[in-house]
Amino acid sequence: MKEPAPVPLPRVEGAAFSGVHVPLIERYYERLPFEPGDKLVSLQEGSTPLLRAPVLSEMVGATVRLKLEGANPTGSFKDRGMTCAVSAAVREGAKAVICASTGNTAASAAAYAARAGITCAVIVPEGKIAAGKMAQTLVHGARVISLQGNFDQALTLVRELTATHPIALVNSVNEFRIEGQKTAAFEIHEGLEGGCEALCIPVGNAGNITSYWRGFRELGASPKMFGFQAEGAAPLVEGKVIEHPETVASAIRIGNPVRWEDAMAAATDSRGAIRVLSDKEILHAYRLLASREGMFCEPASAASVAGLLKYGADGAEQVVCVLTGRGLKDPETAMANNDGKIIQCAVDMARIEEAVLGDP
Ligand code: F0G
Repeated sequence: MKEPAPVPLPRVEGAAFSGVHVPLIERYYERLPFEPGDKLVSLQEGSTPLLRAPVLSEMVGATVRLKLEGANPTGSFKDRGMTCAVSAAVREGAKAVICASTGNTAASAAAYAARAGITCAVIVPEGKIAAGKMAQTLVHGARVISLQGNFDQALTLVRELTATHPIALVNSVNEFRIEGQKTAAFEIHEGLEGGCEALCIPVGNAGNITSYWRGFRELGASPKMFGFQAEGAAPLVEGKVIEHPETVASAIRIGNPVRWEDAMAAATDSRGAIRVLSDKEILHAYRLLASREGMFCEPASAASVAGLLKYGADGAEQVVCVLTGRGLKDPETAMANNDGKIIQCAVDMARIEEAVLGDP
């Protein structure tokens, strides 16, 4: 009798699209500083969707896609870097991690530390962290130090602290963070078969734009990198440190990015640019994405789309906007900026009919 043909195993590269999700480090072992057999701390991050945006495409006259980084386990791109940073820290015997954060790095560090069974502390600017991010960080059991100061001061403090204490620093000064985050560029490159011509991305501490450019360069690709900062927090555009950064996009409320030179090099070498947006422009894109494309991201993420709408794609036909974090992270901003409507109603059919069917 003839042997039945063996059932082929899913290919790792395509696994994300066949319904079998693999951890990011396993998917890209050969391009990351890990070896098969290393103990990994993973929550099955990466392999995020690249969604076509028909309304935006029509508006800008190019094919626009959204890289949905909010689909990562803790709801932001930070998980790509964090799986690497925490895996490496554990490999080196660390028992604790720490970061300064505007919220997402904190939530991600807290989750990966919980998974690894090590402790996590975060230093965040008091009163400037979106509610969802704070809730995540706390529920994962991290110690939250609420600093009467801003992100830049928090980062200076954690750098000093980790220089004298055996705690692993997991901000994007950590090379493993950059290495992990570059994998988003790999996914875009694979997804568009090398066709990405321009990438639009928000810039805060400037780690992510640095990561994407590194990822693209490793594959020999060079889409134009367009980074966007908020008007009140635009050190790279103004060419000087901003002492008191301010913006509604709290994730990118940063006045002295640690990856300053790398970000400028990414913009210059790719023939892109770092540009500025008002909070109003960011919130306009935020509402447009939610109400027209059905995509709810956090305000900082909408900067990528606001920038594309304001400055155009510089002739690029295939454009990717990175939506760095999920809208649910920041419910306060959503409640204050929306086109929806709440109608209070008694338990009474006539009133209900009026409420549902009446003039808006
Ligand atoms: N978008 C979101 C949602 C972010 O949380 C951040 C940074 C950025 C964009 C900017 O990325 O710093 O690599 O240029 N958030 C950091 C944090 C600072 O602490 O969560 P970047």
